Amino acid sequence: MKKYTSAEDFELIALPLIEQDFGKLSFGEFDRNLPFLPKRHFLIYDVPVGQHRGRHAHFECEQLAICVKGSVAMTVEFNKTRKTFALSKAHQALYLPPLTWVEMNDFSQDCVLLVFASHYYEPKDYIRDYAEYHRALSKV
Ligand code: TYD
Repeated sequence: MKKYTSAEDFELIALPLIEQDFGKLSFGEFDRNLPFLPKRHFLIYDVPVGQHRGRHAHFECEQLAICVKGSVAMTVEFNKTRKTFALSKAHQALYLPPLTWVEMNDFSQDCVLLVFASHYYEPKDYIRDYAEYHRALSKV
């Protein structure tokens, strides 16, 4: 597993894509070419224009985001550095290690964002306050 030290280490993972006359198929194999075994997925969609989401980090949960339709801008902050990704392809994934601060903006009206998570939903795993996030970083 690659070591993440700054936002510069984040990159879009190219998922296999099979293009045929009768359509496209993309896939991922967890714990093989994707970094963890998910216990949960969630979908974000029908986000009103101009609305943002996220603005939180997780202590332990790892996530993998795939924009399966439309587009969204995902900004990641890691070790006090930031990078913004334009997610708009169903055959690209963005891996989010623990302690990544994530902000999502510029959702297209038709955006469907699929996220896989390594843990079940646990409110205590969220860091929703930006100052608290930085305090948590100084302890690791
Ligand atoms: P939240 O993670 O805050 O959404 P976003 O990061 O997109 O702004 O979740 C929104 C609400 O949904 C919040 O009340 C928690 C709930 N929720 C679950 O019940 N289960 C889940 O798996 C997720 C991701 C959220």
